[in-house]
Amino acid sequence: MTPKRHRAASTKKTRRTSGRSSRTVTKARTPARKTAAAKKAAAVRKVAPKLPPRQFPLPLEEMPTKWYNILADLPEPLPPPMDPKEGESRLAVLPEVLVGECLKQEFSPDRWVDIPDELMSLYAQAGRPRPLFRALTLEKHLKTPARLYYKSEFYSPTGSHKVNTALAQAFYAREEGYERLATETGAGQWGTALAYGASLCGLKCTVYWVRAVFSWKPQRKGLMKLLGADVYASPSDKTECGKKLWEMNPNHPGSLGIAISEGLEDARHDKKAIYCLGSVLNHVLMHQTIIGLETLKQFEMAKTYPDVVISCLGGGSNFGGFALPFVGEAITKKKKTRFIAAQSQAAPNLQGQYRYDFADHAEMTPLLKMYTLGHQCEMDPIKGDGLRYHGCSPIISFLRDKGYIETVAYPKDEKHVFQRAKTFVQTEGFLPAPESAYSIACAIDEAIKCRETGEEKVIAFNVSGHGFMDMDGYAEVLGL
Ligand SMILES: Cc1ncc(COP(=O)(O)O)c(C=O)c1O
Repeated sequence: MTPKRHRAASTKKTRRTSGRSSRTVTKARTPARKTAAAKKAAAVRKVAPKLPPRQFPLPLEEMPTKWYNILADLPEPLPPPMDPKEGESRLAVLPEVLVGECLKQEFSPDRWVDIPDELMSLYAQAGRPRPLFRALTLEKHLKTPARLYYKSEFYSPTGSHKVNTALAQAFYAREEGYERLATETGAGQWGTALAYGASLCGLKCTVYWVRAVFSWKPQRKGLMKLLGADVYASPSDKTECGKKLWEMNPNHPGSLGIAISEGLEDARHDKKAIYCLGSVLNHVLMHQTIIGLETLKQFEMAKTYPDVVISCLGGGSNFGGFALPFVGEAITKKKKTRFIAAQSQAAPNLQGQYRYDFADHAEMTPLLKMYTLGHQCEMDPIKGDGLRYHGCSPIISFLRDKGYIETVAYPKDEKHVFQRAKTFVQTEGFLPAPESAYSIACAIDEAIKCRETGEEKVIAFNVSGHGFMDMDGYAEVLGL
């Protein structure tokens, strides 16, 4: 806009307001007075110290256009999936159960993989990019010299990071002509995200939901149904593998491993349906790297870099999506960052054995080399049930084996993590999902250690989801 236009506009406004009691109008509108006001503001700024920014919003034009595939930067090749010694080949069946493009991406050697334009548009529709926040009030409350930054995946329309891969898988499935998606869900976040992805891409969706959680989250079930999905408590009587367990115990609490088996069996019996997995696999983690790639850019804006990167881990997609772009820099640029995966003692899979194991209960998947508690291990239900999975994704397991990743597992009663979440709610004002409360607990614990040592560490953590449909869990654990 030219200076001339500025002048013309202000004359017009003065004329329009000239009938009113004039003093404030002329004061605000004349350029000479404006300069005086600006001078005053500058003077005030001089006496009041400038506060550090609270938020680092990435403009839409800066949204990453490619996902990061860490397979290209690993110090050694990732151990491949294998067939068990006996039975039919699970590897041969993969093209029947996984979306073709996702299967291609699973083994891609390319460091960068283009995000299709239509998917970029869907990401924007889902509110990407998401801000990075500086937790100034929390820092002050903790009296820590550490600087805390958190990524806000809780701004997702369905409540969590899961939308990042749900949209991608639904988009590719529609491109390949499928009409229905079948899947499992634990916390209900993945089921809701896939129902949303399916709805936006014009597909049907069937969700097998771990019964222990299905029973206490009726609102999330309502949301999945509103989005058009069919939702069944797992184990269900809808599949052969579910029926066997359900007949033995109709109140079986279920597990992610069982729900995965049900989703796979369902998709295999319907040519128009395809199975989508919400975590664990390489392509799922790659879709999620949009989180960490945005965060890298936001740390550039903040003119700093994290010393510690923290997130919660169930199957590994949230932790991987947030941390892998930073892990890539630790490998290729020798950055000295610590990575901590926050888990529950109900399912401390990263403390299990590093060996080949099935990803599901009924042994329908190939064997994956991962840290595992055993694919038929029984684990107590928790409120952060999205973390209750027997194995950790092969990529994160490999990195843990190579010494890049530390882990902490919090007690099953969840009192510590929910207390920490309460501190976060009361200082930062956002309500985290129970799973995300584990990231927060770990970040606060690290910040308290900094208070004791006096270290000014930069701590980054991801708040993977919101807890608006999880209040019953909070009420039960905290006695609200
Ligand atoms: C909000 C939220 N965060 C984190 C997770 C952990 O899952 P994953 O490690 O597989 O991403 C889940 C799983 O459901 C979740 O719902």
